[in-house]
Amino acid sequence: MKRKDILGIKDLGKSEINEILAVAKTMRESLIAGERVPYLHGKSVATLFYENSTRTRNSFEIAAKNLGATTTSISVATSSVQKGESLVDTGKTLDALRTDIIIIRHPVGGSARLLAETVRASVINAGDGMSEHPSQALLDVMTAQRHFESLAGLKVVIVGDIKHSRVARSDTLAFTALGAQVTVCAPYTLMPVGMEELGATVETDFDKAVVGANIIMPLRLQRERMDQAYFSTLEEYREYYGVTEKRVRRAADDAIVMHPAPINRDAEISGEIADGGRSVIEEQVTNGVAVRMAMLQLLANKGGEL
Ligand code: CP
Repeated sequence: MKRKDILGIKDLGKSEINEILAVAKTMRESLIAGERVPYLHGKSVATLFYENSTRTRNSFEIAAKNLGATTTSISVATSSVQKGESLVDTGKTLDALRTDIIIIRHPVGGSARLLAETVRASVINAGDGMSEHPSQALLDVMTAQRHFESLAGLKVVIVGDIKHSRVARSDTLAFTALGAQVTVCAPYTLMPVGMEELGATVETDFDKAVVGANIIMPLRLQRERMDQAYFSTLEEYREYYGVTEKRVRRAADDAIVMHPAPINRDAEISGEIADGGRSVIEEQVTNGVAVRMAMLQLLANKGGEL
């Protein structure tokens, strides 16, 4: 991989996705074995998060530390962003601090690309508005690959608040690039236009969509992005779109349940499914560290040998 930045799955070809996944497999082995892999010794990685995060931010920081990088975490709440500093000026400051890689999460789509076009440092998009979340999609396909011999022909059903979900967009692109068939399922009010162009089949009836699914991925209702009522009551939403034991029984025998998290128990997913034998939610988190180690290594060394 020769690119400077990783901003979205739509920029990556199948070969680059596979390259990251191949390195992530090696990184996972090191991670599980507790081995040090100091490929980023002497490099500096900064996380710049304008939105809350538990998994992505900590996962990138752990990944960078595992690779021997020095890490800086810029807390927007206590930084000069609160004094009106723009994203571009914050980026220039990070460049002047000799940062090698900036990991950015921002509520506005396109922010990661704007930053990447401004700074010398490499930029990784850790989620920009409702646009893309590439590292989540890569860890999701990595997790799926660990459960199925091939993703080709698998039925992936992403259900929930598709409208506000960058994960739905990135996952649709990543899974379809590897040959899976993606169905996105939501009430009309929570279904954005353009999902077919990304490669998904659109369905509003979850009981129909879930039949034969190999992977079921509920998404939480992103109330922080909702400016109006998109459904009547949570009870009614759960009745039609909740991932429950009864619904999972309609899926394939080997079906797994993934969730990017955070989960809202007994809203989009029942507690028994979240904690049950088909759930791979915690495994996704572990794989996230390996995928992010791979992304950092490939950007820092521009595809150099491991
Ligand atoms: N999946 C995900 O992006 O989680 P966080 O918001 O906790 O980073």
